[in-house]
Amino acid sequence: MKCIVFNGSPAGVNSNTNVIAEAFLSGVRRANAGTENIFLIDKNIGHCKGCFTCWFKTPGKCVMQDDMTELLDKYNDAEIVCFASPVYTWNMTAALKNFADRLVPLKSPLIVNSGGNFDLADSKPKTQQFVVISNCGFPGNNNFETMKAVFASCIPALEIYRNCGKLLKSKDEKIKATVDKYLQVVEQAGYEMAMQNYVSEQTRSKLEMQLMSVPDYVKYIGM
Ligand SMILES: Cc1cc2nc3c(=O)[nH]c(=O)nc-3n(C[C@H](O)[C@H](O)[C@H](O)COP(=O)(O)O)c2cc1C
Repeated sequence: MKCIVFNGSPAGVNSNTNVIAEAFLSGVRRANAGTENIFLIDKNIGHCKGCFTCWFKTPGKCVMQDDMTELLDKYNDAEIVCFASPVYTWNMTAALKNFADRLVPLKSPLIVNSGGNFDLADSKPKTQQFVVISNCGFPGNNNFETMKAVFASCIPALEIYRNCGKLLKSKDEKIKATVDKYLQVVEQAGYEMAMQNYVSEQTRSKLEMQLMSVPDYVKYIGM
């Protein structure tokens, strides 16, 4: 069993997104599963050219020679695939979107209709579980709506949407204590995901915990 995170934050290893991803992965490791944490910003990933060679001429193989060759193998080898990104302009970052576009060799040129929703068929039957991790700078959860809509078609097993993300790396002892409590819940979610392939309702509801009141947070970030 292996869990891989593809983190699209431009801040890479130092990102708030990575604070959550690392907690999740440590729970996965507690369940004796393997982990890998990929920072897309450090990778050479060109933009999809839309040539569809990977469908019609060399099925499953992209014309571009860049880091996606290795990343597609890693994607395929994992049982739990996690897309991680901060909210940038109400959506995932360009780095994660670019990576997602380059996954097109994993699809086949066959349109499937499930109840009026048209999508592409996977070239191999999908057995992976899909997890989303995100954080945003504002309070409230409205900033995650676009990402939720985009990822709905992946039927995620778990989505972790953390508002008030600026608190995740706070040095303030009181805030740190609250964040640590939250990260313990994220760790538990990783553990449950790796152990039993789903996360309990109890853990899911704790993931929604408030880190700080809205007025205090607005004051904290000085806006
Ligand atoms: C270009 C840009 C766009 C952003 N857009 C939003 C946004 O639409 N909503 C929001 O709540 N935060 C937004 N933010 C704030 C980030 O989501 C926030 O700083 C987050 O904690 C960064 O996470 P990271 O350290 O993982 O990159 C934006 C930040 C940048 C730099």
